[in-house]
Amino acid sequence: MNEEKERGLSRGLTNYGDRDFSVYLRNSFASSMGYSREVLKKPIVGIANSFSGFNNCHRHFPELLEAVKRGVLLGGGLPIEFPTISLGEVFLNPTSLKFRNLMSMDTEEMIRAQPMDAVVLMGGCDKTVPAQLMGAASADLPAVQLVAGPMMTSRYGEERLGACTDCRRYWGKYRAGEVSTAQINDIEGRLATTAGTCAVMGTASTMACIAETLGMSLPGTAAIPAVHADRLRAAEASGRAAARMVEQPILPSQVITEKSVENAMRMVLALGGSTNAIVHLTAVAGRLGIKVSLERMNELSATTPVLVNLKPVGSHYMEDFFFAGGVGAVLRELKPLLHHDTLTVAGETLGDRLERDPGYVDHRVIATAEAPLEPQGGLVALFGNLAPRGAILKRSAADKDLFEKTGRAVVFTSLEDLASRIDDPDLDIERDDIMVLQNAGPKSASGMPEAGYLPIPKKLSAQGVKDMIRISDARMSGTAFGTIVLHVTPEASIGGPLALVRNGDQIRLSVANRSIELLVDEAELARRRGEWCCDNVPPEQRRGYDRLYATEVLQADEGCDFAFLKPVELDANPT
Ligand code: FES
Repeated sequence: MNEEKERGLSRGLTNYGDRDFSVYLRNSFASSMGYSREVLKKPIVGIANSFSGFNNCHRHFPELLEAVKRGVLLGGGLPIEFPTISLGEVFLNPTSLKFRNLMSMDTEEMIRAQPMDAVVLMGGCDKTVPAQLMGAASADLPAVQLVAGPMMTSRYGEERLGACTDCRRYWGKYRAGEVSTAQINDIEGRLATTAGTCAVMGTASTMACIAETLGMSLPGTAAIPAVHADRLRAAEASGRAAARMVEQPILPSQVITEKSVENAMRMVLALGGSTNAIVHLTAVAGRLGIKVSLERMNELSATTPVLVNLKPVGSHYMEDFFFAGGVGAVLRELKPLLHHDTLTVAGETLGDRLERDPGYVDHRVIATAEAPLEPQGGLVALFGNLAPRGAILKRSAADKDLFEKTGRAVVFTSLEDLASRIDDPDLDIERDDIMVLQNAGPKSASGMPEAGYLPIPKKLSAQGVKDMIRISDARMSGTAFGTIVLHVTPEASIGGPLALVRNGDQIRLSVANRSIELLVDEAELARRRGEWCCDNVPPEQRRGYDRLYATEVLQADEGCDFAFLKPVELDANPT
């Protein structure tokens, strides 16, 4: 087959049973869009654009898109934009995670089905970057991830505000009666005031740093604010890099490797990053057959210091992180712990990058490895009879006084149950109790929402209680904080041990031992297991994507991907 014909517009032809006719027809229809013959012979760089009116974080994408196109043209390619679905975090019901896999399928299939030689992925808001990385990994065409960049902060009086840690902080104050209705309404308009992703080290920012550490984004681009001129220059450079990769292909499968995934995990731990990032990194790696184990995460966590002083763990915002040195400065501090021979879409290794002059680093924001904020990583996995396949605690955002504790369980059986009783003055709950939320995992009706940050009951917050141990199979926003045990696996909806907890049971948390135990004897648990029945609507009574999701979604320790999207393992010895 003629290699030349496999490039640009001649790739992946529509099948009419006559190849030359397919080329002829495609050229004819492409010409109708005003392209000259000369332009149509160029290699094509697709641009997966997740702009949407339902995604505030991506509202600057039209301008960013022009810069990407400029870069592709400068690199000798023809830029062709195509839309994919977008996931605006706060506009999706029941939760954006449910649609991450749908977006990954959209991205993968449109990369594969349309004629392009490389692709730039434009994403940013929480689930969009993992979805695009998952799709690109499966399609395995040269790809550059371009992120939206974070929002700038705003002001309320003398105080600096940034979504969304401050959203939660002020909402907590409002619930405790410390802030009036007029004030909370005023603050509402000041929390998110520019384009870009949430202004703290939440999921979007953590995923941006992961993409850069993996090598899927250009060096130095993760933290550039959305509205900064450097963001446009990063877009132009990303377009150029994608065009370059047409001649010198670097495939996602060469970039996302066991070593780069470990580097990315180290980055998450040093950032005190979002718990969601572990689910997403597991899913991205899983697309290339790379397993992320929580046991390995604990090993890495034991030797990776927390270096980044950003909310919700610390005190600064993403724009400070950018001016302080960004991902590059963190990578240099982690240098002895990293694999240096991993490849990036810039065409260099991580080791090459680390050779360069670091420039200015603000150590108030990015600590040195010699004097870290915490000696160990921000996340820890817990195991025990309550979570045989693991659970996650963001210890860097938790109250250390609660790390070794046994308490009485106060159980909420669903999100509805939680909403209806949490502020009941008669709720039997004390500050030393442990709140448990069941049936909020991936296969539950709610689809594993960011509901693990259970609100402190009003009657306790009015007494000044700021934190309690909270346990669930749900997730938590990367912008949230507290002693919150998440992603309990297996989940309650499929009969995991979390489903067997009853009011009054004793639960023991030990961060030192990495354990979470339900102190109920096995005979009683067996009795409860015998009584348990799933009250989820069975998949056969659902339809469409909801049915696909209910049937196929995997547990948190497998990244909540769909089983059928993992690589096919061919049987080496077929019978
Ligand atoms: Fe988009 Fe927070 S809402 S990143």
